[in-house]
Amino acid sequence: MKTIELKITVRSYDNVKELPDASRMLVEMAKEATENAWAPYSKFRVGAALLLENGEIISGNNQENVAFPSGLCAERVALFYAGSRYPGIPVHRIALAAWSDGDFVDEPVYPCGDCRQVLLEHENRVRRPVEIIMFGKKETKIVSSVKDLLPLPFIYDLTGK
Ligand code: THU
Repeated sequence: MKTIELKITVRSYDNVKELPDASRMLVEMAKEATENAWAPYSKFRVGAALLLENGEIISGNNQENVAFPSGLCAERVALFYAGSRYPGIPVHRIALAAWSDGDFVDEPVYPCGDCRQVLLEHENRVRRPVEIIMFGKKETKIVSSVKDLLPLPFIYDLTGK
C-alpha cells in the first residue's frame, strides 16, 4: 500500500478589490446575472460570467423547474451557451456569485460536482486551464484550473477517436 497525496492550490482574497480589473469586472457581471435567475424554489440565485479567448463575455444564471432535476446551474447555463454560440473557443475564466436572503453570500459559492465535471471536460477539450473566481462578500477564492476543484475526475474517451 502507498499513500498518494494530492496538492491543490486555492488563492484567497479578503476583498474583491484586490483582484485585477478584468477579474473584478467579471465578478460584477456574475453578480448582475443573479438578477435574472429563476430560483423560486431554492431562493438561491447564482450568477456566472465567463470570458472567452475571443474576448466575448457570456453570463448565465440558475434556471429551476418545479420538476426539480429539470433545472440547471448558472455555470452550465453559461458554459453550454458559450459552447453553442462559439464552439471550441476556450474559456479563460469564469466568475461566480450567489444571492440569498436579500444579499450576496458571505462565503464563496463553489461549483457543484456536475458543473465541475462539465468545466473539466471543457478544459481537457480546449487544452487550456479555466480560472474560476468564486465571490463571497467576506472572501473571494480563485483556482487556476478546474483540476484544483476536481483533482480525481472521471475521464474516459467515449468519442471513439
Ligand atoms: N446552483 C448553481 O447554479 N450553481 C452551483 O454551483 C450550485 C448550485 C443552483 C442550483 C439550484 O438552482 C440552486 O443553486 C440551489 O441549489
